Amino acid sequence: MASYDLVVIGTGPGGYVCAVRAAQLGMKVAVVEKNPTLGGTCLNVGCMPSKALLHASEMFEEAAHSFAKMGVSVSAPKLDLPSMMNFKQQGIDGNVRGVDFLMKKNKIDVLKGAGKILGAGKVEVSADGKAQTVETKNIVIATGSDIARLKGIEIDEKRIVSSTGALSLEKVPERLLIIGAGVIGLELGSVWKRLGAEVMVVEFLDRILPGMDGEIAKQFQRILEKQGFAFKLGTKVTAVDTSGKTLLAKVEPAAGGPSETIEADVVLVSIGRVPYTDGLGLKEAGVALDNRGRVQIDPHFATTVKGVYAIGDVVAGPMLAHKAEDEGVAVAEIIAGQAGHVNYDVIPAVVYTTPEVSSVGKTEEELKQAGIAYTVGKFPFTANGRSKVNQTTEGFVKILADAKTDRVLGAHIIGREAGEMIHEAAVLMEFGGSAEDLARTCHAHPTRSEAIKEAALAVGKRAIHM
Ligand code: FAD
Ligand code: NAI
Repeated sequence: MASYDLVVIGTGPGGYVCAVRAAQLGMKVAVVEKNPTLGGTCLNVGCMPSKALLHASEMFEEAAHSFAKMGVSVSAPKLDLPSMMNFKQQGIDGNVRGVDFLMKKNKIDVLKGAGKILGAGKVEVSADGKAQTVETKNIVIATGSDIARLKGIEIDEKRIVSSTGALSLEKVPERLLIIGAGVIGLELGSVWKRLGAEVMVVEFLDRILPGMDGEIAKQFQRILEKQGFAFKLGTKVTAVDTSGKTLLAKVEPAAGGPSETIEADVVLVSIGRVPYTDGLGLKEAGVALDNRGRVQIDPHFATTVKGVYAIGDVVAGPMLAHKAEDEGVAVAEIIAGQAGHVNYDVIPAVVYTTPEVSSVGKTEEELKQAGIAYTVGKFPFTANGRSKVNQTTEGFVKILADAKTDRVLGAHIIGREAGEMIHEAAVLMEFGGSAEDLARTCHAHPTRSEAIKEAALAVGKRAIHM
């Protein structure tokens, strides 16, 4: 029987990063993966394919609508969807091969098949009707998450799709109805909108992007509406009639009331994700779940069974690839006897639309609720020189600082490249920096990042260009 220091079940960003870090620390490591390719949701049907389509569709949109004003004259771009899908697939393949390479480089055994925990120190791996058991000192569960489903609305991945089907539609739907104005709905809605679909988003709450700063979300909604998105907030879809050529969705106010029918060619169900623990044998092994079906862990990622740990989407916290990765590193270090740690107060979040939305730390709503006195500094891209010359002035930067200490507690950006810009705020916050520190840091000119410096100056009411 093969024997290891660590067996990681699942090779998404949590699992494969954990395996690499453990191998770096001298452990003999194996990963178990039931999918034909490594990389998990993120690389195969999540972050990476969605970003490839967002990039390609943005180029399509730019060629159609932005080139002419810069004096670049091209004929109207034509969509070749199979080629765009091929571009997406090349991106997936390249990244997945990268994970294969990392496994080889770090001498990590890849055990293909479904992993099941037989108890502390024993993992069964089954594939093609055959099973093998491996022994291991430690186990990390990194099995990720699955799509959340709506009762009575059957996902067939053709006409009623999850994100997975929405990443591989064979033609542009004339009318796309999206259930849920969260990250997936707005990112994939943007892709198909740019490629020509009419997009309507039905959201249960009275706002889009719950969890993001309210003021940013409001402006984002206005911008998306200008792009042609239609929103029905405070509304739920109760049924979809699939009997005819056109889908008929029954929608009604979230609080109940008269219903109406919306016609669509494709319905995307994007109402969140749920932890994935099927077939792992957790109950029999004694690994407890919390009240939301997530693997229950202590602050050191330990489950209720000694030597069994869990990380990533399958445990509590934001379902983000970089959160899973950081937990993977931390748990490997803890198993190696080091002080692995994740700072959950500084986990950036990005919505990769145009414009992008990014955020780190507390929102204004959270600060109000916690009763923390804060000051706000805001700076619009309309006053940022680089944005002006590029004529990409939508959005603003917002910095929230502690009213007494000036320590930065949150940063929120809506605008082009917001996802790249947020990290200087994240680094500052990791070091407990103040708005003054940010404001006194020299920023290259002309850059969009100068808007961050100006927003930090605005905390002290002394922005220069406004
Ligand atoms: P996963 O990536 O889900 O990997 C789990 C792996 O475990 C899978 O490969 C699965 O096959 C395997 N597995 C499960 N059970 C078993 C078993 N019993 N035996 C063997 N293997 C098993 N996050 C971001 O941060 N940025 C983004 O831009 C982003 N975009 C996204 C877009 C979409 C459309 C979706 C759906 C998600 C996106 N996410 C994004 C979220 C991100 O994909 C997840 O947070 C991340 O993949 C979680 O990593 P993980 O390692 O916990 O699990
Ligand atoms: P989400 O949690 O972001 O949004 C789901 C939305 O659906 C919420 O606004 C919610 O109020 C709404 N909703 C729930 N039930 C509903 C109902 N019955 N009717 C109408 N609306 C309803 O979840 P989403 O978009 O599915 O994404 C899943 C996860 O994947 C997220 O946790 C996210 O973190 C991750 N992800 C991250 C990305 C990124 O970092 N850029 C991109 C895509 C996904």
